[in-house]
Amino acid sequence: MAKKARLTIEGRDPIDLPILAGTTGPDVIDVSGLTAQGYFTYDPGFVSTASCESAITYIDGDAGILLHRGYPIEQLAEQSDFLEVCYLLLNGELPNASQKANFDFTISHHTMVHEQLRVFFNGFRRDAHPMAIMIGVVGALSAFYHDSLDIADEHHRRVSAMRLIAKMPTLAAMCYKYSLGQPFMYPRNDLSYAENFLYMMFGNPCEPFVVNPVIAKAMDRIFMLHADHEQNASTSTVRLAGSTGANPFACIASGIAALWGPSHGGANEAVLTMLDEIGDASRVGEFVKKAKDKNDPFRLMGFGHRVYKNYDPRARVMKQTCDEVLAELGLGSDPQLKLAMELEKIALEDDYFVERKLYPNVDFYSGIILKAIGIPVNMFTVMFATGRTPGWIAHWNEMISGSYRIGRPRQLYTGHPHRDFLPVDKR
Ligand code: CMC
Repeated sequence: MAKKARLTIEGRDPIDLPILAGTTGPDVIDVSGLTAQGYFTYDPGFVSTASCESAITYIDGDAGILLHRGYPIEQLAEQSDFLEVCYLLLNGELPNASQKANFDFTISHHTMVHEQLRVFFNGFRRDAHPMAIMIGVVGALSAFYHDSLDIADEHHRRVSAMRLIAKMPTLAAMCYKYSLGQPFMYPRNDLSYAENFLYMMFGNPCEPFVVNPVIAKAMDRIFMLHADHEQNASTSTVRLAGSTGANPFACIASGIAALWGPSHGGANEAVLTMLDEIGDASRVGEFVKKAKDKNDPFRLMGFGHRVYKNYDPRARVMKQTCDEVLAELGLGSDPQLKLAMELEKIALEDDYFVERKLYPNVDFYSGIILKAIGIPVNMFTVMFATGRTPGWIAHWNEMISGSYRIGRPRQLYTGHPHRDFLPVDKR
């Protein structure tokens, strides 16, 4: 017999609510019928709310588990690469050899952007934040690729997905080049996704550019570890925007906007800003004290997570890559990186952090790696956005190809009840 929950409200007959079971994870009480009974549910921050059904990514925050289409992130990080994970997220299965080769080929042959889009950059100040530029230019893709905007057409959705995944690194590198006043680099189809990005970022037309394989692997891993994270704030934003029927480029631009905040993707940039502010290992104690002070808004950036209350499995893999990159670049004695390690050690031992299960999250280590690679701090969240693009598209596509309704939450109204308008001379 199907399980149900019984809701008892004083003075009313009990209301039976169906309980839904997923393939794994907690059961979910279906409250969608409550509105017909005259009630809404109240859950600020969606702490207890499943907003949709999804078969893409599973997280068990208490056990520190992250699965993409069933595959553990540790196995993917060890044995796969970013584009293969993109394929997996989009298609539900790992590709065979020819599917993989085709996918890689298709992505590398969509990396150029419309030549006229390059002119858009001139409208931005050179010191504009690259996330501001990304929101603008990714949204603007919908003004260029009219032939893939029909969201009801599966082929159009697929082409848009390829275009977005392929063009994100090109646009990201263009943001950096624009800030330097250097020429934009055209993509190279003979390079892998991560190598091509590094080439467009750090190469110039005057000399050959050799990609360091350790750095390319680290970059690929950063993209992969950010590829998806079920219904996080930016993915939920993409779904909400998509539920109105908006085109995919506009939806991904909305995801980039949501990602920008320091509580979400902006945390990797905020980690480095915080390390700058702390300045020296001798001041770590003072800042840890500030983070614990309830009257002080300061938080340790790169610590804590809404879902992971044990450890962030992505952070564990990222820490390993962090060690590899620091060793390769001989940066083990960099003062800021030493400071980061000191902060990590103290916070991991401090009762306040231990009791609240606040562990370093993925952004703590990715920030350190990106800094070591030479990616400017204000580009960190753009790296996150590039990695998260396949996840955003996979969720958008899953929603659009199934049955969905416009996302439209309700509220607990606490404003004035009805009152009559007073003419200005009577106020
Ligand atoms: N430093 C100090 N105290 C913290 C921190 C922190 N970084 N994070 C949470 N707390 C405390 C918080 O004050 C609260 O204490 P109390 O129970 O005494 O009131 C308790 O821990 C629970 O925190 P919360 O704010 O209720 O937790 P949340 O799930 O709403 O927030 C979070 C999660 C990630 C926004 C938060 O931990 C945070 O602000 N962390 C720093 C920003 C950061 O690193 N964000 C990146 C997240 S990972 C990448 C991504 O998914 O985007």
